[in-house]
Amino acid sequence: MFKKKDMYTVAVVGATGAVGNEMVSILDERDFPVSELKAYASERSIGKKIDYKGSEIPVNGLTESAFNEVDIALFSAGSDSSRQWAPVAASNGCVVIDNSSAWRMDPEVPLIVPEVNYEEILKHKGIISNPNCSTIQMVVPLKAIYDEVGIERIVVSTYQSVSGSGQKGVNELSEQVTDLLNLRDVNAGVYPHQIAFNCLPHIDEFLESGYTKEEMKMVNETKRILGDDSIGITATAVRVPVFMCHSESVNIETKSRISANEVRALLSSCAGVTVFDAPERDVYPMAIDASGRDDIYVGRIREDDSVDNGINMWIVADNLRKGAALNAVQIAEHLIDLT
Ligand SMILES: NC(=O)c1ccc[n+]([C@@H]2O[C@H](COP(=O)([O-])OP(=O)(O)OC[C@H]3O[C@@H](n4cnc5c(N)ncnc54)[C@H](OP(=O)(O)O)[C@@H]3O)[C@@H](O)[C@H]2O)c1
Repeated sequence: MFKKKDMYTVAVVGATGAVGNEMVSILDERDFPVSELKAYASERSIGKKIDYKGSEIPVNGLTESAFNEVDIALFSAGSDSSRQWAPVAASNGCVVIDNSSAWRMDPEVPLIVPEVNYEEILKHKGIISNPNCSTIQMVVPLKAIYDEVGIERIVVSTYQSVSGSGQKGVNELSEQVTDLLNLRDVNAGVYPHQIAFNCLPHIDEFLESGYTKEEMKMVNETKRILGDDSIGITATAVRVPVFMCHSESVNIETKSRISANEVRALLSSCAGVTVFDAPERDVYPMAIDASGRDDIYVGRIREDDSVDNGINMWIVADNLRKGAALNAVQIAEHLIDLT
């Protein structure tokens, strides 16, 4: 049972990874009430240290006793570790906030984006799930439009950075760029093809339907978070040679008409969203600007006259922050507030 305290023992599982590293920074930046920070990763990282508020925290491997006296565990160590260890942590009375896809569609586990459905947090039974990064940045602005005029259908195409594949994706793009610029052969390991100077319409595994798991995560998680199975959603997920931030082209058909100006006004007062939309001055959201920032940036807002009630927009956010670590820490903050 989670109890309100002044300070909390927090564990970061996957602390040496791209998301885990961001979690540790964000806990510090937001002055999260941490009495003790514990860092866990795979056996490979035992003996390493991470920096937190100027102290060196040792990285340990996971054991049955790892979660004794831990209040909140932020997991970002992949689905297999989450399936194995999140129930162990929860049975020790710790609340797990999990970034993997392991629990996202489990009806017993709330799937939370605080700006959209923070009240659902209290339904947790020890595990709370963080949605997929591409889903989070799309549902925050869409929720405001959904509440105002309803949404009939969503067509989304993503342009996802290599940090979405973790540190190994970042390393692969940087090595391939260096190799190509030095006229050396390129090695592809993380992705099935060269990612440098290329776009891959392939994220996660292909399903029999021809869609990828990443595309279906966007479809299923969006319906679950907005609490509406009737919305038609189709997604194409593309990996692009960008280090940080995911960009998305989103086309929606609303139930009743809304103008581009009304969408701009609506999103301008939406928590966690910055409207960045002045095409006459070449102002629109870009990955290089959103990197390291907390907000979700929306621009290129325009009416789609090919349907009765259509709106197009371009949405960009830092996948490691709002798409993962920041959303998880915000869930923990709301958990404390609601308790
Ligand atoms: N990257 C994103 O934009 C993003 C966004 C949303 C969600 N996520 C999810 O967050 C998770 C981590 O992603 P990432 O991008 O941070 O990957 P990453 O950079 O590859 O980091 C993975 C982390 O998990 C640890 N780990 C791996 N196997 C483990 C095990 N058996 N036991 C304990 N720790 C283990 C790794 O430890 P070692 O260093 O010791 O190998 C590392 O700390 C994934 O589930 C991913 O789907 C990622």
